[in-house]
Amino acid sequence: MIQKLKGFRDMYPETMRARRIVFDKINSTARRFGFHEIDAPSVERLELFRVKSGDEIVKQTFSFEDKGGREITLIPELTPTVARMLASRKDLVKPVKWFAFPKMWRYEEPQSGRLREFYQFNADIFGIEGIEADAEVLALAMEILDSLGLKGKYEMRVSDRILMEELLKKYGVERIEEAFRLIDKKDKIPEEAFYEELRNICGEDAAEKLMDILKLRGAPEQVLESIDIGERKDTLLKLSKLLKAYGKEIVLDLSIVRGLAYYTGIVFEAHDARGEFRAILGGGRYDNVVELFGGTHTPAVGFGMGDAVLELIMKREGVWPEERVEVDYFIAIVPGFRERAIEVAMQLRKAGASVDIDLSNRSLGKQMKYANRINAKFVVIVGEEIEKGEVVVKNMESGVQETVRLSEITG
Ligand code: HAM
Repeated sequence: MIQKLKGFRDMYPETMRARRIVFDKINSTARRFGFHEIDAPSVERLELFRVKSGDEIVKQTFSFEDKGGREITLIPELTPTVARMLASRKDLVKPVKWFAFPKMWRYEEPQSGRLREFYQFNADIFGIEGIEADAEVLALAMEILDSLGLKGKYEMRVSDRILMEELLKKYGVERIEEAFRLIDKKDKIPEEAFYEELRNICGEDAAEKLMDILKLRGAPEQVLESIDIGERKDTLLKLSKLLKAYGKEIVLDLSIVRGLAYYTGIVFEAHDARGEFRAILGGGRYDNVVELFGGTHTPAVGFGMGDAVLELIMKREGVWPEERVEVDYFIAIVPGFRERAIEVAMQLRKAGASVDIDLSNRSLGKQMKYANRINAKFVVIVGEEIEKGEVVVKNMESGVQETVRLSEITG
């Protein structure tokens, strides 16, 4: 047998059903926030990601030369595509609020919560410079997690690249990009080695101060008390205040800088409160990407959330939907009544129920066994009673069986 590739998943009906319930909930939350669904190509020119995503993500692409000699890739993220789509539509009324839930591909080493193919929910707002849009996007991300039963099980950690940059400058650091890149890797290197490297980039004094700052984590009002950096401080306090109006509490954590190169302001990640898993989702503000693709200057803020870590944490918390298939009705057929049974199935299907029907001409006993295996809630036995407009209905949970008028179940 030919094995499937490492880091890819086969999705059988049981898993797919659970996933669909979760995905539908996420999409409907986005709709309730006034976001509109889009979709995009799964393959793009590699160039698109070279422009602004950063070397790391380009290294991770599933890229190849197509038959026309073009260098193309399966998409490793959606943000450049969405920015391109936005840049080529001048007629859109701002703010634009879009969401999508595509598959994407990254050639990473597969491990817990990290795959080579995954789904990633994306939501972005374009055209708003102010922190109001950051708040709306953050509130959506948190409402999604809350509505999935994860309230209190995660922490929304927010930072600000502008504030960090101001802080680094104030400490006399010149190699700011390098410092960001190192801070982004903080949790992946031992503290000693991290400090050593930070000292190399920032100098002894700044490194010491930064070590303290990077450890701060708490309510913005609290954390900002110890940081003296004017205007951005007010912006962050405003963000926190707005989120309180949404009923959401964020945590300020200045060690969050995010790996992608295009972020220009607020950045955030939702983390498992118990610290077992990687980030559940990540995003931030990227005000300079749309114009790179030929649009006018369009501020933007959004986030991406993969299905892999989400599934792990939901399973741990016991809120991932049960992985089993089920149908509302199974139509069991007494020999000689197939056409009548098909009519009954179609009536129920038209009424909106999920209905399976015997296709194998098996004995009634075997049909009942099959109905049990596929978790049918009710079995409708179609036999001679149908001539009087009646069927036998068995409630598979209670085991109660009764003869009822067909109109009672078809409505
Ligand atoms: P990202 O941090 O690269 O950001 O990915 C966002 C989320 O996608 C991660 O937190 C994780 O849930 C999921 N993810 C990423 N890589 C993998 C993987 N190999 N396997 C499973 N899940 C993964 C972005 O992609 C940005 N484009 C998000 C964004 C949208 N920023 C603004 N708008």
